[in-house]
Amino acid sequence: MGIRNNIIDEIKSRCNIVDVIGRHVLLKKSGSNYKGVCPFHNEKTPSFVVSDTKQIFTCFGCGATGDVIEFVQRYNNLDFLGALEKLCDEYGIEMKPSGYQTEQDRTALYEINREAATFFYRAFFNNPNPGYDYMKKRGFVPEVLRKFGIGYADDEWDSLYQYFIKKGTDLQILLKLGLISYSKGKYFDKYRNRIIFPIINTRRKVIGFGGRTLGDKEPKYLNSPESAIFQKKNNLYGLNLTRQDINKEKCVILVEGYMDVISLYQNGIRNVSASLGTALTENQAAMIKRYSDNVILAYDADEAGQTAALRGLDILHKAGCKAKVMHISDGKDPDDFIKENGKEEFLKLVSNAMSFADYKIYLLRQRLDLNTTEGRVEFLQETAKILGELSPVEADIYIKKIARETNISEGAIRLEINVNNNSENIKKYKKVSVQDTGNKYQSGRTDSGFGTMLEKNLIKLMLLNSSYVNMIKPYEWVFQSPSAFKIYDVIKSVYKLDEEIDVKKVEDSLETEDNKLLQDIMENIHLADKEEQVFQDCIKSIKEAVLAKREQEIIQLISILDDEKDRDKIDALTIELMKLQKGKIKDR
Ligand code: GTP
Ligand code: MN
Repeated sequence: MGIRNNIIDEIKSRCNIVDVIGRHVLLKKSGSNYKGVCPFHNEKTPSFVVSDTKQIFTCFGCGATGDVIEFVQRYNNLDFLGALEKLCDEYGIEMKPSGYQTEQDRTALYEINREAATFFYRAFFNNPNPGYDYMKKRGFVPEVLRKFGIGYADDEWDSLYQYFIKKGTDLQILLKLGLISYSKGKYFDKYRNRIIFPIINTRRKVIGFGGRTLGDKEPKYLNSPESAIFQKKNNLYGLNLTRQDINKEKCVILVEGYMDVISLYQNGIRNVSASLGTALTENQAAMIKRYSDNVILAYDADEAGQTAALRGLDILHKAGCKAKVMHISDGKDPDDFIKENGKEEFLKLVSNAMSFADYKIYLLRQRLDLNTTEGRVEFLQETAKILGELSPVEADIYIKKIARETNISEGAIRLEINVNNNSENIKKYKKVSVQDTGNKYQSGRTDSGFGTMLEKNLIKLMLLNSSYVNMIKPYEWVFQSPSAFKIYDVIKSVYKLDEEIDVKKVEDSLETEDNKLLQDIMENIHLADKEEQVFQDCIKSIKEAVLAKREQEIIQLISILDDEKDRDKIDALTIELMKLQKGKIKDR
């Protein structure tokens, strides 16, 4: 029972009900609450209310009411445990119990952090101090600093310690939270002569601190240690203030530092957040995606920043975000840049941000010399890997562009992609074809795993002329009927350069069942001396099949997306669909 309570408590302190429900129901602010159309009964005027302060939902139409867990339960038709699992999964919460953290413990930790934050905040705002002077000199205005709850830790050894001692606070907790430390028989404050950035989650709990030194003391930034309430990999800085703007702008700008967040915010760019002094994690990417799947990385222009951006791109891409990287000129960070050049110039950089593929290709072109053969070969190989990650239609756009810019032929790039991503393609292709019901394409599956026309034609080609073995290799993933796959496998194993395939040998290596298909091919497939023509037709139909599948996928996607909420996605998909269909007509 205790274990469950911990998890429930953890969920409630991490998952804001407004965010969770807002992903499914269009919520509008109404007084201190949010209002929307009830998902649990049919209604035209909204009577479904979500309270941010109470963290509950209530429908005045049908009477449905409950907390975040009950919502997930009802909305997804899950039992209680199922809802817990779903939320834990989405918010990166471990279902395992973690020992001592009872609900009471955790509440106490949040409480103490809040008190410490208030202590630092007062020190910053109530009396003159070096922290305030420093931030003022850097151009920050008090109202923004107040919003972020900025504080100051003074230069004494034990100000915070003394404050908590007077209140009788448990020293063990202060140690655990990293607010004080113990050495040589003495307790002293961990944060001294530092600007304090409280890290506040979307449930407004103070989960930790970042402290920037005012002197030249190392480290430059001191962060709270990991604790029962603070895991860096699960949190982002600033989201407590910026998530609504991120939602509204349908875009988030991710920066490296606390200062960058506050600086952009002050300059009118409020859809901003930062990872907590570490490389972006999968959990953070998943968290961002809940608010927006357009992400722009605005990392420092130095090498560390570039490396972090590359890693971040991959992680965001895997999490299903559309990630871009913006390049800040002359080695500045976003804070320096916007202070010097202003909002409009910064927004120009945002609109010039490079997509996943663009950025990677840009870095390749910087690194490799395309005037040398080695450079071109490596460029081709690396580009193929990058483009293999994209949808066929997207990849096509890049192939044309790269061919134009580098004088490498489109054919060479395509071939490289096929060879390179062979195993990936098998996976993708299999996944789609399982869902296929109709037998629309020439390459479609015939019944009982017996070969398709496409497979039969390709096998016949190889048997007639062994030079096709290597030409067909890049497309070998089309052999999916079990017998056709086995025949192809055997052909490959008996193939010798400059020798025709020994059909008898193939026959001998096959089981009876697979031999039936071979006999069928030998007897019934007639290529009438038009081998090259047949080969070209096969390749064309494979490509068409890939595109046709994408077309189906798009149609399906459009049909399940929400007309209102996903307008942008639907528009983008519709454009892609139109292009696909136009291409088809042109080819006929
Ligand atoms: P300013 O120099 O004050 O403008 O801060 P900045 O945010 O530009 O600093 P920097 O680019 O050096 O660092 C970016 C982020 O990395 C910081 O906001 C911290 O989150 C993190 N970071 C920097 N230095 C340290 C450090 O010494 N220790 C830890 N844990 N994190 C650091
Ligand atoms: Mn900086």
